[in-house]
Amino acid sequence: MAQHKLLNWTIRVAQYFTGILAVALVLGILPRSVFSQPSAPSNPLKIGIIGSGNIGSTLGEFWAKAGHQVLFSSRNPEKLKPLVDKVGPQARAGTVQDAIAFGDVILIAVPYGSMSQISKDYAKDLAGKIVIDTGNAVLARDGEIGKEAREKGVGLTTQRLLPGVRVVRAFNTLGVNRLRNNANRAEARIAIPMAGDDQEALKVASRLVRDAGFDPAVLGGMDRARLFEQTNPLYGQEISAPEMIERAKKL
Ligand SMILES: NC(=O)c1ccc[n+]([C@@H]2O[C@H](COP(=O)([O-])OP(=O)(O)OC[C@H]3O[C@@H](n4cnc5c(N)ncnc54)[C@H](OP(=O)(O)O)[C@@H]3O)[C@@H](O)[C@H]2O)c1
Repeated sequence: MAQHKLLNWTIRVAQYFTGILAVALVLGILPRSVFSQPSAPSNPLKIGIIGSGNIGSTLGEFWAKAGHQVLFSSRNPEKLKPLVDKVGPQARAGTVQDAIAFGDVILIAVPYGSMSQISKDYAKDLAGKIVIDTGNAVLARDGEIGKEAREKGVGLTTQRLLPGVRVVRAFNTLGVNRLRNNANRAEARIAIPMAGDDQEALKVASRLVRDAGFDPAVLGGMDRARLFEQTNPLYGQEISAPEMIERAKKL
């Protein structure tokens, strides 16, 4: 009898709190994002970040929040302490070499003019790794290599600079504020256009696009990365993945 009463009481309390929760949601007191945050991945990746500036620090923070382990790198790693403190226990800091040794996946987010140096110093160590390249070639900033990238395509130029590397182009089309404002939208997530020649690398990078709070839109091999370069139609678009893929088919 006492057991029965206790059970009834427990059910009533549960119903009461569920009711409060539902009302709070309907009234908008609780942000819907509380319920739409991705859960920690069961097999977190180790991500090494080369270039922990605007884009590198933002994506690294998203991935750390999603449960991955992130090593932010710098040519002066001591200056990364505030970033690591802010991002929390999933993050650490080191040299570029440390990031390459650490990462199952490497994010390169440097001004494109630095890619020749990165190629010279690290191409051998990067061979065989999955690398996500966010770079845009800016003529006034990026010198000769920027010029080549504008003419031949950033993705194809990165592949030439990093032979044997499994390069994926992604995250080059939206500035950091737009990334922050659009990540993990409860409804109508927006697409990150992607391209690359290595299917497994595209699969891993697609997972990281999702874990950053967006939908992957794989548009094809590296030659298709031109479609979402700075001067081209799919750059800067805040649209869904199906729409991105449909638009790409017409280009
Ligand atoms: N900012 C945006 O909103 C945005 C959006 C889309 C794409 N992009 C593209 O993404 C790339 C990164 O942009 P960003 O704005 O994040 O750049 P950023 O804030 O200037 O940061 C770039 C980082 O690259 C590192 N770096 C520079 N030269 C290097 C080298 N030779 N070796 C190793 N590290 C080097 C620097 O780190 P240390 O000095 O600490 O070593 C610096 O913190 C660019 O190609 C940009 O066009 C930017």
